[in-house]
Amino acid sequence: MHEHSFILKGNLCYSETKDRLSVTEQGYLVCCEGISRGVFPVIPDKYQNLPVKDYGDRLIIPGMTDLHVHAPQYPFRGIGMDLELLDWLNTHTFPEESRYADPEYAEKAYRIFVEDLRKSASTRAVIFGTIHLPATEFLMKELDASGLVTYVGKVNMDQNCTDDLRETDAHVSLESTAAWLRETSGKYPNAHPILTPRFAPTCSGPLLEGLGKLQKEYGLPVQSHLSENLSEIAWVQELFPWSSCYGNVYEHYGLFGGDVKTVMAHCVHSSDQEVELMKKNGVYVAHCPQSNINLSSGIAPIRRYLEAGIPTGLGTDIAGGANMSMFRCMADAIGVSKLYWRLADQNRKPLTMEEAFFLATKGGGSFFGKTGSFEEGYEVDALVLDDTGIRTTKELSTKERLERYIYLAEEGGRLVGKYAAGKELF
Ligand code: GUN
Ligand code: FE
Repeated sequence: MHEHSFILKGNLCYSETKDRLSVTEQGYLVCCEGISRGVFPVIPDKYQNLPVKDYGDRLIIPGMTDLHVHAPQYPFRGIGMDLELLDWLNTHTFPEESRYADPEYAEKAYRIFVEDLRKSASTRAVIFGTIHLPATEFLMKELDASGLVTYVGKVNMDQNCTDDLRETDAHVSLESTAAWLRETSGKYPNAHPILTPRFAPTCSGPLLEGLGKLQKEYGLPVQSHLSENLSEIAWVQELFPWSSCYGNVYEHYGLFGGDVKTVMAHCVHSSDQEVELMKKNGVYVAHCPQSNINLSSGIAPIRRYLEAGIPTGLGTDIAGGANMSMFRCMADAIGVSKLYWRLADQNRKPLTMEEAFFLATKGGGSFFGKTGSFEEGYEVDALVLDDTGIRTTKELSTKERLERYIYLAEEGGRLVGKYAAGKELF
């Protein structure tokens, strides 16, 4: 029997579309060699000999994708929330990230990050490292061994940051990135490299140009930040006066979708033109609501992105976001969408629970291919949720139990089983 072939039994919930949540009570999820063969009310004859893991009355849902998270910022999560983006970077973020020049510190910190991510609801994550090679390779090694599936980026930055975190110039940054790609190539099958210009302000034109060339040479995906904060956007316009919008800077250098799989964090204040460009190029939005609250960045118009068909998922943006929980992230996404609707635009309805669940699972998961659902052909990432610790006298439907778990996971929820790409992690 193939070790990644089995059946999970329980109350199965997954997104078919952003509006349609499939619920099968006491159903069977058939996984053959890591791939879903579908969800069934009874086990089909041809799968009768697969081992069944019966999770009783627990909920079983797809694993979640944290589409934007900074591993090196984990040590200062929950601290220093009284500043806006640019001051926060200089005061808290750059000093902490510069510590990862010391491999011993990096190993200690990254061990904690990976252990906690492994225990979390995320089965997949798109991760920023730092500029440092040994630290970033260690992060990839630990993630790969964890069973999680990730993209990991060595960060590029050659201007507008503290001296000890600035790569000397574009040439040095590019050489270092090429060395990182050579060094890690093929070594970590579940921790894939992703090009990571930090954001336009910390990258010179020659650096972005060189990254565009590296992208073509290696065919790598790209992650960065976009239109998170109003001062940041004004600064990008000063630094790149020829650009028609912030996203155009990345586009100019071949780092903004089209043939290049690209995810941009935030997109809180994207102009109409920028939204058109994201739509035309199929650029992913990583919506990070808790970070946008903590750094007073604003509220991203996610309804608008969904209506435009822009691929969208959710990110924690640790340490802009203090919390690694994707359940909390969903609740925050719903919450801020209600404020947006009430305060900013009454034509953009709040996100529903189904939509937030879709974003956290199938929406963000699609960055990895067919993941984040239990439909036939999807890689099986699954979470088993025990909600018996969230006490109530009320009789709840399965869908209500799921909704309640999103809001109360931290109160009494327990993640008692986790599978990524068909592999049982616990
Ligand atoms: N923009 C550039 N760097 C960062 C970062 O580390 N966090 C957030 N939230 N925004 C950024
Ligand atoms: Fe970020």
